[in-house]
Amino acid sequence: MNSKLKMAIVGAGIWGENHAKIYQAHPFCEVVAVCDEKREKAQALAAKMKIPQWYDSYQEMFKGSGCDAVAIVTPDFAHAAAAIKAAEYGKHVLVEKPLATTREDVFAMTEAFEKNKVRAMVDLHNRWSPAFNVAHQSVERGELGVPCSGYMRLNDIKWVATDMLPWAAKSSILWFLGSHSLDTLRWFFDDEVKRVYSVSREGILKGCGVDTVDAYLTTLEFKKGGIAQMENGWITPNANPCVNDMKFSILGDKGMISLDMSNHNMIQKYTDEKVAIPDIVVQHSIFDYPKGFAFESIRSFVDCLLSGEPFHVSITDAANTSLAILAIMESAKTRLPVEVRY
Ligand SMILES: NC(=O)c1ccc[n+]([C@@H]2O[C@H](COP(=O)([O-])OP(=O)(O)OC[C@H]3O[C@@H](n4cnc5c(N)ncnc54)[C@H](O)[C@@H]3O)[C@@H](O)[C@H]2O)c1
Repeated sequence: MNSKLKMAIVGAGIWGENHAKIYQAHPFCEVVAVCDEKREKAQALAAKMKIPQWYDSYQEMFKGSGCDAVAIVTPDFAHAAAAIKAAEYGKHVLVEKPLATTREDVFAMTEAFEKNKVRAMVDLHNRWSPAFNVAHQSVERGELGVPCSGYMRLNDIKWVATDMLPWAAKSSILWFLGSHSLDTLRWFFDDEVKRVYSVSREGILKGCGVDTVDAYLTTLEFKKGGIAQMENGWITPNANPCVNDMKFSILGDKGMISLDMSNHNMIQKYTDEKVAIPDIVVQHSIFDYPKGFAFESIRSFVDCLLSGEPFHVSITDAANTSLAILAIMESAKTRLPVEVRY
């Protein structure tokens, strides 16, 4: 490609700004337009990140901006309509996780990408985490033997649901973080989830005025016989030294790997108010250059579009992750095991 890849962004919120930073810092990419249904947010991000065009309608942006590809960075439940429209305009698409939160949207999106022959990826970024990636390489080399059982905890402090996300009540910790957990476990087991059994509890967040589930504990059975447990909660105390509480282990018939992703212990910060473990793994910047695995995944979308190489997360990965989460939600509601429908 002679010229730079021209990106457009739908959603000028917290994460949309990070997308803009990554594309603008990439030597072979530029952001040509940003859209937000709140026009003042689109306008403000355009001014801040030196983006030449802003819109309050994504359809107008797809029609008029001259973009090659689009990042969909709207709230969890609002990815489908914009992604499908982008595909209809022949734009390649990076969708923030999760792909979609309903079965209908999952299939409408995958069909639209296929029919319009556009390339699409979902930002399931754990695969770019140095610790997870190195652990996965070990599994690929057969050092642990056949994966038998796994455990993954991925919780957020309460503040994310009560203060950070204005739309937490319209989503769920299962969509917001469980999508990462499910994709990670699928990746390590190299398998699809067959059946799930989940229990949930609620009350703490409702008491804070946010009508969503506090936490889910889920058992997964994979098709080839692997079993795993997944814990996703939005009620970790705000004093936790990291935003996330993330633990993982995978046990095979020859060995085991364990990760503690929330206590890297390389840096601690103490003030009169708080003890903190500053993030130097997920998202940070070095001399204003965006670093960390949550940014590498987004950069990788650009790199793979430019090189023509396959994305490291396929649309099938993302679709099956969403379908398995829908089964988990049904199980938590009925308190019965549920087979995942693909
Ligand atoms: N990969 C990661 O590490 C990561 C981190 C945070 C958030 N996210 C994901 O990014 C997405 C956005 O999260 P956020 O925290 O930036 O939310 P946000 O609320 O800060 O921003 C979302 C923006 O989308 C706009 N919007 C909503 N519907 C729209 C529409 N139809 N057309 C145009 N604009 C519309 C809203 O006005 C808002 O400005 C979510 O799916 C979230 O899960 C990913």
